[in-house]
Amino acid sequence: MTPETAFDTAPPKAVQRWSASDYARNGRFVHELAGPVFAMLEAKPGERVLDLGCGDGALTAEIKASGADVLGVDLSDELLAVARMKGLNVRKVDGHALDFVSEFHAVFSNAALHWMRKPELVIAGVARALRPRGRFVGELGGHGNVAAIGTAMRAVGALRNGDPALVAPWFFPTVEEYGRLLTEGGFAVKEIALVPRPTRLRTGMEGWLRTFGRSFFDQFLEPQRTAVLGEVIELLRPSLCDTNGVWTADHIRLRFFAERVA
Ligand code: BEZ
Repeated sequence: MTPETAFDTAPPKAVQRWSASDYARNGRFVHELAGPVFAMLEAKPGERVLDLGCGDGALTAEIKASGADVLGVDLSDELLAVARMKGLNVRKVDGHALDFVSEFHAVFSNAALHWMRKPELVIAGVARALRPRGRFVGELGGHGNVAAIGTAMRAVGALRNGDPALVAPWFFPTVEEYGRLLTEGGFAVKEIALVPRPTRLRTGMEGWLRTFGRSFFDQFLEPQRTAVLGEVIELLRPSLCDTNGVWTADHIRLRFFAERVA
């Protein structure tokens, strides 16, 4: 996912816009590497499942293929349009303001919750949306996720008078922090772990930065934007690019399975 807003009591502030073509090219790993969390969901025929932060619907389609009745929600019009073209049932809804009541057997979320920076609101909405004993199964960036990438962006941003709030608009919690949020939000946490998952980037670091770091780079006008991008890439090269020119992102996932307390 794919929120375009940072939700607060104040009006939403634009944070991230998505290009469906960039996402398809540079973000393929997001659903290709989702096997473990998808397996934890164990969606069954006849179940109602909410895919929170469905993006272009790559995993929503897999949930549908399992026989479940799935609704995908996201904030990106562009990615939702792609999901609709796949024949999926999707809707534009802010993850901070889910308005479903006891409708779903399970809520699933992959690589979306780290864009939602008011996790208490998200978890409260998920709990409301689930039936008693309903499952909340998800994966998001965990503490330390893309630490090198974030540090390089911060360093270059500081030299270029960038807005520090735009450097890393993500929420990467520890096991303890997210476990506590789930428990306080009415869930019994059955499994939760940080999982290092170095990710080979087939379209290089530039593709990753252009797609997932867009809120940061968009604050600069050309030709400064291209220069900033180049500086971030060169700062990262010694740690994330091997001698064959292959880039790896320092991804760490937080994966969990929780059950709504009846
Ligand atoms: C991630 O999937 O780890 C990620 C996605 C976007 C921004 C930062 C991290």
